[in-house]
Amino acid sequence: MNVTPKIIRAYQGETQNTPCAWLMRQAGRYLPEYRALRAEAGSFLQLCYTPEWAAEVTLQPLRRFDLDAAILFSDILVVPHAMGQSLDFKAGEGPVLGPLDVTNLSTSRDAIESFTAPVFETVKRVRAELNPDQALIGFCGAPWTVACYMIDRRGKTGFPKARQMASDAPDDLQVIIDHIVTASLHYLRGQIDAGAQAIQIFDSWAAYLDQESLMRWSTQPIARLVKSLKNSHPHIPIIGFPRGMTGSMKEWVDHTNVDVLALGTDADRKTARELDICLQGNLSPELLLQGGQAMVDEARSIITDLNHKPFVFNLGHGVIKETSPAHVAELINAIKG
Ligand code: CP3
Repeated sequence: MNVTPKIIRAYQGETQNTPCAWLMRQAGRYLPEYRALRAEAGSFLQLCYTPEWAAEVTLQPLRRFDLDAAILFSDILVVPHAMGQSLDFKAGEGPVLGPLDVTNLSTSRDAIESFTAPVFETVKRVRAELNPDQALIGFCGAPWTVACYMIDRRGKTGFPKARQMASDAPDDLQVIIDHIVTASLHYLRGQIDAGAQAIQIFDSWAAYLDQESLMRWSTQPIARLVKSLKNSHPHIPIIGFPRGMTGSMKEWVDHTNVDVLALGTDADRKTARELDICLQGNLSPELLLQGGQAMVDEARSIITDLNHKPFVFNLGHGVIKETSPAHVAELINAIKG
């Protein structure tokens, strides 16, 4: 039987009484069962590229909490890795990428699909385990955010080289962005063909772009991704997450043509709710870390502000690793209760 999960109907524009919910980074280090499997796997990438483990980690939060969707367990940096840039995750440091040789990046469908085949296998396994009313969300990083990591090669830097390239050598940056768009498209289509039912595009570092550069480096590349995906897979909802974006949300939404706007913690809900689009977000992960009445009150006020139109509850950024799983249970109960 073919059922459209409730969350997918919200993404397609249905207004619902009780909002659906999932959480960015719902699978991860705040869960003891994740830490156990992560220790067994040895490395984060080994976990990502072993379908049996990655599928298990994807499903772990759904075993504990009443969530409406699973998000594929993988990483946005799988795309540069598949293009041929070396990648490592160092304890305490986060991602470290190898030298970027733009002339040697592989972006053919064959190259990307063969490298990311284990991720597609993970998608298949997860889809087979989920209930018909639970959706599986696939994802990739937005071209600008992925370019930040490829150019600066470290996570916690503020990306000075990428930002300098955007202003001083835009033609060089454009070439990198174009490669990322091509590779990401193969990667997303593979996820959808394997069973992903919605796609989220994470522009985690959109805040580094001013109004004018936002159009060139965030909006336009995402618009190209969306247009190509809509050609091949017209019914798959696409969620855009321009975290911390400055400038007009309306312009970003109109030009990218995403189906859903995911709001960061600082996004203005009053402005967002005037848009004619499904919204997602935007509880502060700090409040989830804290738990208790302040968290519950803010979750209720988000629902009051946004749930009279198509809406899906989420955080404004990922779950912080020190968060107690009991707080997540408390939050989901407050939303669903
Ligand atoms: O549950 C989920 O959200 C699904 C899996 C997921 C991960 N990363 C797992 C992960 C998703 C959707 C991502 C996206 C991602 N990865 C983003 C965009 C979202 C955001 O946070 O803004 C970015 C920027 C990355 C790049 C990345 N991956 C960094 C900077 C780091 C290190 C930071 C850290 O928290 O250690 C990662 C590692 C990472 N990705 C972990 C997880 C669970 C922790 C790795 C570990 O277990 O050691």
